[in-house]
Formats: sequence, C-alpha cells, structure tokens
Amino acid sequence: MFDSGFGGLTVARALIDLMPNEDLVYVGDTGRYPYGPRDLSEVREFALEITNHLVRTHDVKVVVIACNTASAAALDELQQITPVPVIGVIEPGAAALLDATRNGRVGVIGTVGTIGSGAYQRAVASHGREIELSCAACPGFVEFVERGETDSDQVHVLAQRLLAPLVDADIDSLLLGCTHYPFLARTISDVMGRDVVLVDSADATAFRVRQLLIDAGTTQSGSSAGAHRFESSGDVEAFRGLGRQLLGPELDEVTALSWPE
Ligand code: DGL
Repeated sequence: MFDSGFGGLTVARALIDLMPNEDLVYVGDTGRYPYGPRDLSEVREFALEITNHLVRTHDVKVVVIACNTASAAALDELQQITPVPVIGVIEPGAAALLDATRNGRVGVIGTVGTIGSGAYQRAVASHGREIELSCAACPGFVEFVERGETDSDQVHVLAQRLLAPLVDADIDSLLLGCTHYPFLARTISDVMGRDVVLVDSADATAFRVRQLLIDAGTTQSGSSAGAHRFESSGDVEAFRGLGRQLLGPELDEVTALSWPE
C-alpha cells in the first residue's frame, strides 16, 4: 500500500487489525508529498512508479492506494495495467458515507486534487440514491498532519474557515476524503458539531481487501503475525518517529527509497 506520507497509516491500522497475519509493505512518499496541490497527471506518474515498485520488488498480491488523491488520479489506469488487483479508497469511502446518512445530506472533504477531480461526485452518484452532496477542499490540513500538529489552535482556526460551508449545509455525515484527515478528527468534530457523524474509508477499504483475498483464495493461513515493512522517500528517521506515534509499535524500521529506482 502507499500514500504521499503518513495518511495511509490510517488504512494500514485498519488492515493490520483486520488481517494480523498478512504481510504488509507501506510506502510513504514523503519526499514528494503533498500530492493534493499537484497536477493529477503528475500524481498518476508517482502512483504508477510506486505500484511498479510494490509489484516488482515486493511481489505483492494486492495493491491498496491508501490515498484519495492518487486513487482519483490513477485507480482506473492502474487496475487495467497492473498484474495484481488494485483497490482504491474512494468507492469504499463513498459507500460508508451513504450507509451513515439518515437525512440524505452529506459532505466530503479532501485535497484540492481529489475534490477537483469529481471522483466523489461520481462515486456517490453511481449509487443512484437521492443525495445532496456538499464538497469542500481543505488545503493545508495535510501539512499540519505531516508536521505532527493535529490539534493546535492554528489548525482549529483553519478548520473553522474551511468547514464553514459544510456547517451551513446542514449535513448529518461527513466523509474524511483524505487519508490524513482522521488524525484531525477531534478538531473537525469540534467544528462540525457532535451531531455530524464523521466517516472515513479505512475500515471499509480493509473489508474490501479482505473480501478480495478470500474470493481469490489468497489469504495468509496460520497464526503467525504478518511482517510489516515501511519505506519512505523522505527523511526515514522523521518517518519512523512520527509514524510510530500515529500508527503504533508495528512501525519499527523504515527503509529509504529514492526515485527513480
Ligand atoms: N493522504 C492523501 C489523500 O488521501 C493526500 C495527501 C497529500 O496531499 O499528499 O488524498
């Protein structure tokens, strides 16, 4: 699995908890984060490069794009050209959002790239339900998480400004459509109010991966714990320090990656 940085660790946590026997390779592309403000064609190139690396170097049986921006930019293409199944986070997240809503008024927040791509608008529409969807890009949120600053006054002030249209839209459920955002859940919930259910794609994505492995008959049998490997294209010590705080003890060693390989 991969993300631009620490965000995908929210999905890694769900995968490890649901499938503790499976081996996991996580690539955090911190040398090139953030993906959100970049052109989608550039993010697509990064996603192809990392997926190639996971398949060729690690011989993975499934690739999880644990990043909404990269899912929006590259899921369709990767599913066509990759010799193993590729799963993104957008469709599982949209399905979880629609399960959560009672009044049919929902919100999605994400990076500029994700929201601008229209991927969530399409994913929600594909369910054919009568839904009022409000979307907002939240530039700056990812940078706060990457700095390990998840509940400062500054991030609170930014959240108040960026989320104001969603507060006004009277939604009952809000999808955190960027895998970094669950780390800001307390701040986001303070701003949105306790009545708004926050939904993220981590559990829904982990369940999809498990179902896919069950259907393919490729789940890891036995009771030994899976091996968890972490790679970063940025500062590996910084990745280890903050990553361990965000994920937990499974994040032990981090290997350096550089592009092109
Ligand atoms: N975590 C990523 C996502 O879900 C993107 C963060 C970034 O801007 O790099 O979109």
